[in-house]
Amino acid sequence: MKKMVLDHKAYEETARQAVAEGQVLLINEEHTLPLQEGTRLAMFGRMQFHYYKSGTGSGGMVNVSKVTGILDALKESGQVILDPQVLSAYEAWVKEHPFDAGVGWGNEPWCQVEMELPEELVSEAAARNDAALVIIGRTAGEDQDNKNQEGSYLLTEKEKDMLSKVRKHFERLILVLNTGNIMDMDFVEEYHPQALLYAWQGGMVGGYGTADVLLGKTCPSGRLTDTIAYKITDYPSDANFGNRDRDLYEEDIYVGYRYFETAAKERVRYPFGFGLSYTDFRIGDVSFSAGEKDAEITFTVQNIGTVPGKEVVQVYVTAPEGALSKPEKVLAGFAKTRELKPGLKEQMRIAIPYESFASYDETGASGFVSSYILEKGEYLFHIGRNVRETEVAGSFTLEETVCLASLSQALAPVTPFERMRFIREKDGAVHKVMEAAPLRKKNPAEKRKELLPEELPFTGDQGYRLIDVKEGRVSMDAFVAQFNDDDLSCIIRGEGMGSPKVTPGTAAAFGGVSEELAHFGIPCGCCSDGPSGMRLDSGMKAFSLPNGTLLASTFNTALVEKLYSFTGIEMVKNKIDALLGPGMNIHRHPLNGRNFEYFSEDPFVTGKMAAAMIRGLKSAGVTGTAKHFCANNQETGRSTVDSVISERALREIYLKGFEMAVREAGADSIMTTYGSVNGLWTAGSYDLNTTILRGEWGFQGIVMTDWWAKINDEGEEPRINNFAAMAKAQNDLYMVCTDASINDSDDNTLSSLEAGTLTRGELQRNAANICGFLMNTHALERMEGIQTSVEVIGETDQEITSDVEVTYYKVEDEISISLDGVDTGKDKDFVFALDLQKLGGYRVEVTAKSDLSELAQLPATLIYQSVPMAVFSFNGTGGEWKTIKRKAVFHNKYAVLRLYFAQNGLEVQKITFRFDRELERKNDVIEAYVNSND
Ligand code: BGC
Repeated sequence: MKKMVLDHKAYEETARQAVAEGQVLLINEEHTLPLQEGTRLAMFGRMQFHYYKSGTGSGGMVNVSKVTGILDALKESGQVILDPQVLSAYEAWVKEHPFDAGVGWGNEPWCQVEMELPEELVSEAAARNDAALVIIGRTAGEDQDNKNQEGSYLLTEKEKDMLSKVRKHFERLILVLNTGNIMDMDFVEEYHPQALLYAWQGGMVGGYGTADVLLGKTCPSGRLTDTIAYKITDYPSDANFGNRDRDLYEEDIYVGYRYFETAAKERVRYPFGFGLSYTDFRIGDVSFSAGEKDAEITFTVQNIGTVPGKEVVQVYVTAPEGALSKPEKVLAGFAKTRELKPGLKEQMRIAIPYESFASYDETGASGFVSSYILEKGEYLFHIGRNVRETEVAGSFTLEETVCLASLSQALAPVTPFERMRFIREKDGAVHKVMEAAPLRKKNPAEKRKELLPEELPFTGDQGYRLIDVKEGRVSMDAFVAQFNDDDLSCIIRGEGMGSPKVTPGTAAAFGGVSEELAHFGIPCGCCSDGPSGMRLDSGMKAFSLPNGTLLASTFNTALVEKLYSFTGIEMVKNKIDALLGPGMNIHRHPLNGRNFEYFSEDPFVTGKMAAAMIRGLKSAGVTGTAKHFCANNQETGRSTVDSVISERALREIYLKGFEMAVREAGADSIMTTYGSVNGLWTAGSYDLNTTILRGEWGFQGIVMTDWWAKINDEGEEPRINNFAAMAKAQNDLYMVCTDASINDSDDNTLSSLEAGTLTRGELQRNAANICGFLMNTHALERMEGIQTSVEVIGETDQEITSDVEVTYYKVEDEISISLDGVDTGKDKDFVFALDLQKLGGYRVEVTAKSDLSELAQLPATLIYQSVPMAVFSFNGTGGEWKTIKRKAVFHNKYAVLRLYFAQNGLEVQKITFRFDRELERKNDVIEAYVNSND
């Protein structure tokens, strides 16, 4: 038995520190922050009672026992005096206007209705208090982009009214934004807050981290990972973002600051990398050298202010204009100091690999075709505190253009389009011109044919188990040669969601999904969402992490790695092998609903952060799944849209972070997207998954589809069952099938084998990728009887890890499950699972009684995949059994369900599920059945 220790307390403290370091302070006039001990503070905004711990969708569905918001943390600190009248006015109002969670998936409101502020409440509060703190909250997420409208990117009328009243009466206004995405910031001119903080969404301990900064326990050191422009229309992707069918990436490599610094400096409100501190730093003793593989800058950072703090030092490179158009500056290195006391100095060094600022030449205009190059001319290295405030640290000049890597064209567009480039005049003036993006010359299907893997002759069962490969007794080839066609077609099917073969309520099981595969000693690997911690739809609790944007804003890779090492141990405890994160798409546009899961508009920060997370997870013997590969940069039409992107932009922007995660952290699990890039849905893209990922980067591991993704062969419509196209491309796993041991999605694997459009050699290669991955997991150890126990120490009041055994009930047509003895106390739940032989509509009945009054409200909510499916609203029944009927639709064979009790006082007898074909025909949308009674 192996042993690991999970220290809750340390986990929580690390997350809290990360939240504090990820806070980005944009305004701090007249030393408004930090709040001095004893400050009298009036807090405005209903969001003080509803801290957004994350955005919505799969990346936010972590069940927690408690979320500490900013108000809670300030109260707990005892350091400020919170105005009781304002607080109780809000408390009373919020009781009448409870939090609106919306209905179901992708339908959550972006914001909550704000309370109308009586003018006297504000004016009287202003007379009693030193400052006002206003919290504005926003959320968005999967299947729901933000919109450039009130309540989303823009403030609502009520929020404006609140701000104007508070501004009018208070001398000091502190504004805190609890959001996943950046917002339109015109309100800065309108309301002139003296302090403004992007608090992001900090997970379950988020409020503590924000309070630490507000109170000065932590000096702010977060920096923007996006440019904040004046208007949404200033972002060069704005013209195309949100198209459902075709999205032309006309801005090309000019994403975020690469565009603004080059061509639209005056449109920037807050530059990339910007963030204030409570102290000052001086960068000095700068020396620069250029070596064989990288350049190096050494320097000192001294705290010349009055309080201890950390500084983020950023290095940007300006490459010379040549055959290729170049952004004004490109981030190529950063480092964060340790906490420096006033007066103290730290000696630092940043190495800048030449690859990090190389350009990709598609056409050979530089003399090198399909190559990463450094064009001849002068390279300037800037060091500083954000993209604007920099000084030249050194330079070198290349007499000749240098080729760093000579490759071949891959993933280039097939649709003609024009992209942006810039021409710099001698006087420094910059002109935008549009040029045709180079198109694809060779069809990837031809490449596939030229490089077909050899088929291993079928040997049948030789008695080899996967452990024999791991321990060097047989080769992977000999192992895989044992599989017959059925085994090969089966191993590429992932099973979920809620497969009983792995931890209940997780996203998928993969590998040993059939008896035959398990017989070869192949375990079932388990993967679970996501970028903000483990999502367990069984209702079990997990640690909810700060969102991706917040973590990237720390610019502290060591801290992020440490945080994720705790998550890794938490996964081991819950028998999860691959987290479905980090989410690492590029913030191409501020309105992408999933930006909160992702890091930045910049690929270098993205790659560094993803690599840190994966290293952290790997330290516990588990891993992350870098997603979504690639260019999943909007939610609108995410499974229909074809993103048309030049090869240069793909390589320098949209693939770069993934490449860094593979090369720097040995990322070994990747998820493709729902959408298409340059004509091929990514799961079936040979260039993406084979030529580039494995061929160029040397990736070793598994590639999985996104859940129920579509796949196509070029020129064809995408289909969810075109597994052959997926397998050929080396996207190894289809996620997900309801029962992977049979072909219940009618996939075309075996028929394609028979037709000769897919080879056994290719399937054997997928199988080897999957087995090679599983060989290094705790899942294999468990299968071989080596258990890893996780001892949890450092108890806190937040429950985070729980092992759970869930009973699966097989349902032919009908089942009645006894609820006898179930604890129905307030906030308790009963978790169980169904193994449904028939998919479709079910009549659901709950029988219960209560001695409480007829007016007592005793709801029991049936929750499926974290979404309420039906509410059984009991009242007191005078002690008589009563049955409430509802309807539900199941599209998954396995359903992990949770019956949740919101109040004490109900006694439950049974829950019944009865298949009803009629219901299925009427409607197949779960939401339609919520609360409907007939
Ligand atoms: C999301 C993925 C997620 C998967 C499993 C999909 O809808 O796009 O990011 O990991 O579901 O929940």
